[in-house]
Amino acid sequence: MGILTNRRVLLGIGGSVAAYKGAEVVRLLKAAGARVRVVLTAGGARFITPLTLQALSGRPVHEDLLDPAAEAAMGHIELARWAELVLIAPASANLMGRLAAGLADDLLTTACLATAAPVMVAPAMNRHMWAAAATRANRHTLEQRGVILLGPDEGDQACGDSGPGRMVEPAELVATVARHFGGGPLAGLRVMVTAGPTREALDPVRYLSNRSSGRMGFAVAAAARRAGAEVVLVAGPVALATPPGVERVDTVSAADMLETVMSNLAGCDIFVAAAAVADYRPAQRRPDKIKKDAAIMELALERTPDILATVAMVEEGPFIVGFAAETRDLERHARDKLERKGPDLVAANLVGDKQGFDSDYNALTVYWRGGSRDLGRATKGELADGLITLIAERMIEQG
Ligand code: CTP
Repeated sequence: MGILTNRRVLLGIGGSVAAYKGAEVVRLLKAAGARVRVVLTAGGARFITPLTLQALSGRPVHEDLLDPAAEAAMGHIELARWAELVLIAPASANLMGRLAAGLADDLLTTACLATAAPVMVAPAMNRHMWAAAATRANRHTLEQRGVILLGPDEGDQACGDSGPGRMVEPAELVATVARHFGGGPLAGLRVMVTAGPTREALDPVRYLSNRSSGRMGFAVAAAARRAGAEVVLVAGPVALATPPGVERVDTVSAADMLETVMSNLAGCDIFVAAAAVADYRPAQRRPDKIKKDAAIMELALERTPDILATVAMVEEGPFIVGFAAETRDLERHARDKLERKGPDLVAANLVGDKQGFDSDYNALTVYWRGGSRDLGRATKGELADGLITLIAERMIEQG
């Protein structure tokens, strides 16, 4: 089930170079499960053909207010009623002006006047046009009336300028739409997170383990919950409080953790492997306490099961996020992990004496096949929120 399953979105496309990105918005909305009807303004139709939008939305594109045939199929009032949300992306300066003035001189502005649904507007225009007093006044008027403005972003513009005026990227727009409907980008989804170290017993009183505090994984579980998901947190032995609304299952060893993960996998949409699972365990667990009678003691170790790789082998399995803690060559190791273990994302951080384990701060860069995003250095809570937003965006992108 997509995050937007059966949501009815009326997408308005205005006359801006960014109109071509409107096609991507349609594709992503459809991939997320939404039902989409496209209204193209006369300006928009100069930049993108109705045929492209029809092919992507699976519906004829609406263009004319007064075309009897089109009105017979679905009139402007019906269209306005049908919509649960109107998203205008891109909105030109002209279109914003017409909306602000309350004009009903084409199908899109008329539908906006006639609808009871919320209206979101993603402006796209030259930075000087965006900064112009008239545009500022129009924007103010629209916001006063409850229109939700998304962006614009700053950056290079088609006209050669650089500054505010770029349309917000399609994946981000669709993530905002999902948040609008679900109260959170992960509403209705089930997330499982592993966190903390594991302990591999040597004898009844000793074990092998590592310095992981579990804080990053706990922060991810809390952020997923804030984003509306149902969350199961599979924790290794850590001294942390369970985040509110999160279901926690405590485990000790890698084998334990694997068994708990596999028995909770059914219905899981997203799996985040944040645990620092011990890679090796004693080949034998001694039934009694080992005595110090030998001068040198040798320990035979064997590999533990790889939880992430095991989940990645499951057919029709969840969207998978792995972590990589490295002391050097972050990107190379992270990309290698993507290929070797098969997760959809790898969140990588450099570990050393000053950050990573047992700290409230971390610095993450997230890699996927064909892209990456640096989430910067921040508290683990802030990074977890950034990671969850990115997961929602990537899931929408992958359909
Ligand atoms: N992981 C796992 N089960 C294991 C080992 C690791 O699920 N037995 C997961 C971790 O939770 C993390 C990722 O795999 O998401 C880390 O991959 P791994 O290759 O173990 O990382 P490093 O230990 O950093 O790798 P390397 O041995 O290549 O240095």
